[in-house]
Amino acid sequence: MSSAVYNITLLEGDGIGPEIVKNVLAILSASGLKINWDRCLAGAVAYEKIGNVLPKETIKSIEKNKIVLKAPITTPVGYGFSSVNVQLRRHFNLFSNIRPSKNIEGIKTPFNNVDLVIIRENTEDVYAGLEEKIDENTIHGIKLITRSASERICDFAFKYALNNNRREVCVATKANISKLADGMFLNCFREVAKNYPQIKKREILIDNLCMQLVQNPSQFDVLVMPNLYGDIVSDLCAGLIGGLGVAQSANIGENCAIFEAVHGSAPDIKGLGIANPTGLLRSAILMLEYISENEKAKKIENALYLVLKEGKTLTKDLGGNSSADEFTKEIINKLSIV
Ligand code: NAI
Repeated sequence: MSSAVYNITLLEGDGIGPEIVKNVLAILSASGLKINWDRCLAGAVAYEKIGNVLPKETIKSIEKNKIVLKAPITTPVGYGFSSVNVQLRRHFNLFSNIRPSKNIEGIKTPFNNVDLVIIRENTEDVYAGLEEKIDENTIHGIKLITRSASERICDFAFKYALNNNRREVCVATKANISKLADGMFLNCFREVAKNYPQIKKREILIDNLCMQLVQNPSQFDVLVMPNLYGDIVSDLCAGLIGGLGVAQSANIGENCAIFEAVHGSAPDIKGLGIANPTGLLRSAILMLEYISENEKAKKIENALYLVLKEGKTLTKDLGGNSSADEFTKEIINKLSIV
């Protein structure tokens, strides 16, 4: 049994962030993991206290610890400061966003054989924030696609497939219309694919992918795509396995990784005690695998899956009427029997 003590930066976020963090930390602690959490500020909360949405203390903590568990941070829609999530991903060059979607026993969905992983480019595309006002009625929004980032993410997707016993990597673009930007992404995929003869390759247009995903999702394995498509399609895929409350994600770079749920700060359910901590918990499980705490990761996952399979103590988004605290307590109870 590992006796390591880990130093991990914790961003509690806002909206439902502090609620789901409290639940997830209780489960991690009950599993016997020893983690020194370095609680740092980011987003509107940081702005109110320090006057900066991404304080230098937060940056320093991440530089030191290199691992972050992060709750959602609200980004003002249509005005205000640019996304702190995007700033973090770009600052720490977290070029790949891994978003697995696999059916979970006990969660009823239209399909029961979904098992796919989206590898989303995480640093450029329209998230580069290159917009300019030409005049009152005209805006130029620039979609930035570079060869180096496209090659890097395609290579990451093939390596991921190899290391995780996956059979196929499929690239999704709109290269019929965006002939230069998406065209280059597609060409990078084709070039990189030559280095991985053991993995099947497939190409699909993003609109067709969406239709195929809601009709026959089990045909897909690993999917790689530019940033914006990856953002949208991963919410669709969260819907295939039970919704945003359960979807996990990992932002991985060369020297640093940030683990966070796919969902946002859910202001509509803030403070009601019903926010499902599963998405953040499953992201924490990815974090434990990343630091090679595989035994603890499996134990927590087994406890979570047992509660979901029994279906007696579920939060509202999964059709139950338990509070997030009751759901959390049930997972902790199960830790002693899994
Ligand atoms: P959202 O993901 O926060 O919520 C969408 C819907 O899913 C809502 O009905 C919400 O109640 C539900 N939901 C989300 N998480 C849930 C959970 N754990 N349990 C139960 N139900 C859950 O998306 P929305 O409302 O579009 O965005 C709200 C804010 O979050 C925006 O400011 C957005 O920019 C930000 N955001 C932040 C992200 C991050 O920090 N990584 C990611 C996505 C959005």
